[in-house]
Amino acid sequence: MYKLSIMRKYFFTAMFLTLLISCNSSDKNEDITLKQAFKDIFYIGTALSEEQILGEDEAAIEVVKSNFNSITAENIMKSEVMQPIEGEFDFTLSDKFVEFGEQNDMQIIGHTLIWHSQAPDWFFVDENGDDVSPEVLTQRMRSHILTIAGRYKGRIHGWDVVNEAIEDDGSWRKSKFYEILGEDFIRIAFELAHEADPDAELYYNDYSMANEGRRNRVVSMVKALQEQGVKIDGIGMQGHLNLNSPSIEDYEKSIQEFADLGVKIMITELDLSVLPSVRSNDGANVKSTFEYNEKINPYKDGLSKEVEEKQYQRYTDFFKLFVKYQDNIDRVTLWGVNDAQSWKNDWPVEGRTDYTLLFDRNNKPKEVVKDIINIVSNNN
Ligand code: XIL
Repeated sequence: MYKLSIMRKYFFTAMFLTLLISCNSSDKNEDITLKQAFKDIFYIGTALSEEQILGEDEAAIEVVKSNFNSITAENIMKSEVMQPIEGEFDFTLSDKFVEFGEQNDMQIIGHTLIWHSQAPDWFFVDENGDDVSPEVLTQRMRSHILTIAGRYKGRIHGWDVVNEAIEDDGSWRKSKFYEILGEDFIRIAFELAHEADPDAELYYNDYSMANEGRRNRVVSMVKALQEQGVKIDGIGMQGHLNLNSPSIEDYEKSIQEFADLGVKIMITELDLSVLPSVRSNDGANVKSTFEYNEKINPYKDGLSKEVEEKQYQRYTDFFKLFVKYQDNIDRVTLWGVNDAQSWKNDWPVEGRTDYTLLFDRNNKPKEVVKDIINIVSNNN
């Protein structure tokens, strides 16, 4: 009898402890995915590669379906793919991308209509190779934007209408669009996108948005567009971060100043490189590349614990910042699904091994995913 009651006591104590452990918040959140955790906070998106859009990377697609509710095409909606030859549009991949988003009930983002980079050469020149007139360039922009945004009218939630028109110091980037049309090309692009799809949200997107010069220029540009009655719904802050820059304070200042404009903020291209910087500044100008050497590829056989922890801490700090501004931030999009896909493996130096994203090369969520989820789940 006595023995039985002792056993019973042990049994109930064990049951109680099990219950206690299973109530622990991090365990509770074990099965929650990113999109479930953030459903009332902001959209959580990712960028799809061509392979993923073609359904050739099934494991990554599973991660996309379970963890993300917004998608952007990493490359296939850029002008060199959409209209490689004047008047010859190729919708093969973009149609598949949009269908994938619709089938899976995802928010679909168009990236990007007007960008100097990954644009076909013909866009800016005549048959002699000379720059076209402002009228001809406007006509080409018109045809490009109306054809593409028009085709997906009502199906694309928002467009990155203009990408990267501003330099670090706040001056206008001397792109062909700028050289031929001046800063007015931005107004023209937004008006054409609005004409093509009146209900789509329209965004200006750029990198290194924590830089004071670029921040100030974005603010004055958006104000000028608003004063002219041009529809602009949001600002995309590419989030190409590394371990040391930008500072949270500078990034926060930009969020605050952009929010004051009354537009939505999207964190559009989030990744966090752990590799040594080879540049004097840490932007994302896809044109600048550097020679490979072993010294600048220190983690090709695996990441050190120390660096990994540093990266996790920084990821968590940034997500805390995003959650703090959840009333202004509408979406956070990772620039890729897993580390193998990350463009940072090949830019600005080709052939390095980086660890920038939230899922590893085997599509497993990194430890930090739990921490990120806990930021919001513990408050619910
Ligand atoms: C990058 C892609 O990730 C790469 O695959 C491609 O080779 C170059 O472009 N800013 C942008 C994105 O707006 O479109 C860029 O994407 C990264 C910088």
